[in-house]
Amino acid sequence: MTRLFLLSFLAMLPGLATAESPQQILAAYQQQAGSASATRGEKFFFAKLAKPNGESVGCSSCHTENPKAIGKTRAHKTIEPLAPVANRERFTDPAKVEKWFKRNCKDVLERECTVQEKADFVAFLISVK
Ligand code: HEC
Repeated sequence: MTRLFLLSFLAMLPGLATAESPQQILAAYQQQAGSASATRGEKFFFAKLAKPNGESVGCSSCHTENPKAIGKTRAHKTIEPLAPVANRERFTDPAKVEKWFKRNCKDVLERECTVQEKADFVAFLISVK
């Protein structure tokens, strides 16, 4: 019984080892970028880019104008809030963060985000109270 408990506990460890706090994730980007600015991150979050089809898109197109609100994909699937204050799972898994930065930056900017943009973006979302 005790042994079984111990085994299932150990099985959970790899997952725990990769879990980080939003502050740790911010620190890693900030170290690479040299700085992180919540003000710049806020501008980046609300910026809209005109697409060739006339549509204007930005991070807030899916994540809404309120980082504490529930967002929506183009296919109308729910997106949980981005701000850690409203969603404790945000910015706790570096691989997930990188995966979505890559995908969403390409979607919106047609290029990957720079480390500076990532540092600023995370700094802004952490600053949301
Ligand atoms: C087409 C819709 C869409 C747009 C536009 C969009 N996102 Fe997202 N974003 C998503 C979806 C879907 C997820 C993953 C679902 C989830 O985690 O709830 C996500 C998750 C994320 C995450 C993961 C955070 C975490 O720790 O869980 C980051 C970072 C992110 N987006 C950044 C951005 C940035 C930066 C922009 C603007 C350049 C942006 N997104 C624009 C749909 C979008």
